[in-house]
Amino acid sequence: MIAYKRSKGLPWLLACILSCAICVYNCQEQLTDHFALELLDNSDISVAKEIAKKHNFDLLHHAQQLGNVYHLQHRSACKSNHTANQCATDGAALIRSMLSHPRVLRSIHQVAEDVEKRHLDIKEFLRNLADGVDDKSDDSSEESRAIDKRREEIEDAKIYKKALSRRHLDLIVNDPHFNLQWYLHNTGQLQGINPGLDLNLLPAWNRGFTGSGIVVSVVDDGLDPSNPDLKNYDPLASADFNNLTRKEGIPIRSGPLTMEQTHGTACAGEIGALANNSFCGIGVAFNAKLGGIRILDGVVTDLLEAYAILHNNQYISVYSCSWGPRDNGLVMDMPKFYTSKALQLGVSKGRGGKGSLFVMASGNGGKNADNCGADGFVNNPHTIAVGALNIFGRTPYYGESCSAIHVSAPVGGPHTPNSKLPDYLVTTTMVNGGCFKEMSGTSAATPLVSSCVALALQANPELSWRDVQHLLSRSARLPSSGKGDPKIQSWQVNGAGHYVSHHAGFGLLDCAKLVFTAQTWPGVTDQIDCRDAKPYRGKFRVPSRKPLTLPFDSRGCNGTLKRLEHVLVTLTMQGMAMRGAVEIWLKSPAGTESRLLGMRPKDKDNRVGIKNQTFLTLLNWDENPAGRWLLQIWDRGGGGRRRGVVTEASVQFLGSSGARLPPVSHRRARWLTPDETTAAFRSQRLASAAQEVLHPELATLSRRLHNALVANGNGSGGGDLTAIVNEARRVVSKKGVTDEDLKYLLRQIDSAL
Ligand SMILES: *[C@@H]1O[C@H](CO)[C@@H](O)[C@H](O)[C@H]1NC(C)=O
Ligand SMILES: *[C@@H]1O[C@H](CO)[C@@H](O)[C@H](O)[C@H]1NC(C)=O
Ligand SMILES: *[C@@H]1O[C@H](CO)[C@@H](O)[C@H](O)[C@H]1NC(C)=O
Ligand SMILES: *[C@@H]1O[C@H](CO)[C@@H](O)[C@H](O)[C@H]1NC(C)=O
Ligand SMILES: *[C@@H]1O[C@H](CO)[C@@H](O)[C@H](O)[C@H]1NC(C)=O
Ligand SMILES: *[C@@H]1O[C@H](CO)[C@@H](O)[C@H](O)[C@H]1NC(C)=O
Repeated sequence: MIAYKRSKGLPWLLACILSCAICVYNCQEQLTDHFALELLDNSDISVAKEIAKKHNFDLLHHAQQLGNVYHLQHRSACKSNHTANQCATDGAALIRSMLSHPRVLRSIHQVAEDVEKRHLDIKEFLRNLADGVDDKSDDSSEESRAIDKRREEIEDAKIYKKALSRRHLDLIVNDPHFNLQWYLHNTGQLQGINPGLDLNLLPAWNRGFTGSGIVVSVVDDGLDPSNPDLKNYDPLASADFNNLTRKEGIPIRSGPLTMEQTHGTACAGEIGALANNSFCGIGVAFNAKLGGIRILDGVVTDLLEAYAILHNNQYISVYSCSWGPRDNGLVMDMPKFYTSKALQLGVSKGRGGKGSLFVMASGNGGKNADNCGADGFVNNPHTIAVGALNIFGRTPYYGESCSAIHVSAPVGGPHTPNSKLPDYLVTTTMVNGGCFKEMSGTSAATPLVSSCVALALQANPELSWRDVQHLLSRSARLPSSGKGDPKIQSWQVNGAGHYVSHHAGFGLLDCAKLVFTAQTWPGVTDQIDCRDAKPYRGKFRVPSRKPLTLPFDSRGCNGTLKRLEHVLVTLTMQGMAMRGAVEIWLKSPAGTESRLLGMRPKDKDNRVGIKNQTFLTLLNWDENPAGRWLLQIWDRGGGGRRRGVVTEASVQFLGSSGARLPPVSHRRARWLTPDETTAAFRSQRLASAAQEVLHPELATLSRRLHNALVANGNGSGGGDLTAIVNEARRVVSKKGVTDEDLKYLLRQIDSAL
């Protein structure tokens, strides 16, 4: 049994490397002295008590929301002085004996889940980073050129600057570090860098969307409610599952608190730190009620994750989860039995059946060449996976990539570990009443998205969990023009006109757009679960230097499923010389290319392989599934004889009939050229600035402009552009041509033609 310490900086990294090394050679699961006992329906607690007593267990908890599930801890088996083998043998015997009871449905020996907080102490990390940097290229000159270029663009976009200065005037607050919170509100206050690279939050605040009436809980190592910024702490939204004897208590370790327990409190401040209280900074949803659910301050099990996910789910709306499977680039993990069930129950039963919102960090394993395709939490359709960006709109070195990232939030972190550029991080609360100015990582990005979701729920409480995902897909923009960043350049426009990326999902979240779109969102119709493409079962060997291509033909379940949401691929594959050499792509009938799993050079596994792992792509959002899909599996394991053999592969399409959804223009998907990326970035940025501050009609025009730009790249859409320009002229003349801003926008539209 191991309790991973998650202290900051190098000691922690070393601990990880050591324990991971052990795992490579002795990859037995770390069994604990905890067991789940599930009884048949209509058995009552006396049966559980009787079984516990007979087998020398303490009965710690009845997990009612999971059904007839009881949490048992053994009094003598699997203690720390027992060997792993002894524990496995004892556990198996106990389970056999319990299963012989006629009322027992199942019993699962609980494993210490290998999860970690997604926190990064960037400064300490960089100080200690002498060796081991994979990407040694010093691209700072290239970066500086890119920044100069961006400054020019910004200089150029006068309308944009003006818009920013206007919204600045709307807010006077006395929180001393609000100015450091560039990711909420960036007017260029930090060395003039990249004004507008922020969550576009203030228009939402200005309209009164601050989280009132919404409950958000941070599932983490605890929450220290003694911090003066965390007065919105709500015991009803909180729980302590690290100590099952004090479930209802304040969710933080008793006794002195150190930086090791500050992670949850830091995440909480990003969501709910009070505004205008002369202390630290401001949370995105500073009027929301704030809970802390403690599971990460000790051994984490499948059961604890499940309790957290279902805790008081008629009361809590959003669960912010800045953690996940370890980011060492070695593991492939999925939510286990009860956690999967809890996620399923959460979206179907939580929030009066509208569904709980589970927001998850996509991981910080970029440095370890990890890929979030290997993270089954990120790839679960019931979670919303969040990526990170820095103040330049670039992907930080720690970011991971995969087709399951939904949106990204700006939190800082250098693009390469040796970058000389200034870096700005996140300011938030910490334990013992402090203010913490160095929060970062996808841990920091997740609470920002959680709280924007809370604002959207305030704007429209009827939103279902799928509605929220639809809104996120439509409320993000390209974070940069992509110059000098090959990663951020890798944008596609999908078959429904959405810009998508493996590094940033649908892009940088635009909170105001999310909230305002939510207000009038019609609501998506019932989910259609379509598995009409014939699965593969047998032995399909990956050829050498070529991918194994498996076609899947779908008719969208006789045309009932017209607008895709999630596309899931489940795969079993063994026999590779090295699991990390596997790369998996899925190409849709519209032509969108999703990398479901990228190479992970550190994963040398040659034994377990890929076992019934589910991969998710969001890149086909709003496409029609009908047609031929191509699943392509590469094994780039070095040309030896050992190559992967796929034994099972299937595709599942989730989505709706499309009724009630805004129309999309179906088109051939394609990768954007650098020029198109720049054009898309600029038009979206204008749309974002114009949206609230200038003129709603122009905002619509800007959006249409960007759609037309996309179509234009395909050699069509010229007519559309002319219509837009004519309409812009009409709007401008109606308002009188005196307004400089309107004229400027018109010029922008003209020059974009
Ligand atoms: C483990 O320690 C307990 C006391 O904590 C003791 O009763 C037991 O005999 C020990 N077991 C082994 C295998 O050493
Ligand atoms: C913050 O408090 C100051 C007084 O200290 C007040 O003038 C200002 O309007 C307040 N700001 C907001 C946004 O409530
Ligand atoms: C768990 O909580 C109980 C009640 O507050 C306390 O007595 C006990 O020491 C706690 N256990 C641990 C391991 O912190
Ligand atoms: C499509 O329709 C046919 C005939 O109505 C039916 O037999 C078949 O089951 C349907 N397929 C799916 C996937 O719904
Ligand atoms: C694969 O996993 C799914 C759940 O995700 C399960 O229903 C199915 O039985 C599993 N298949 C195998 C062969 O283990
Ligand atoms: C895009 O171009 C292709 C090939 O030139 C054409 O078949 C298709 O209809 C075009 N799509 C749109 C939306 O213009």
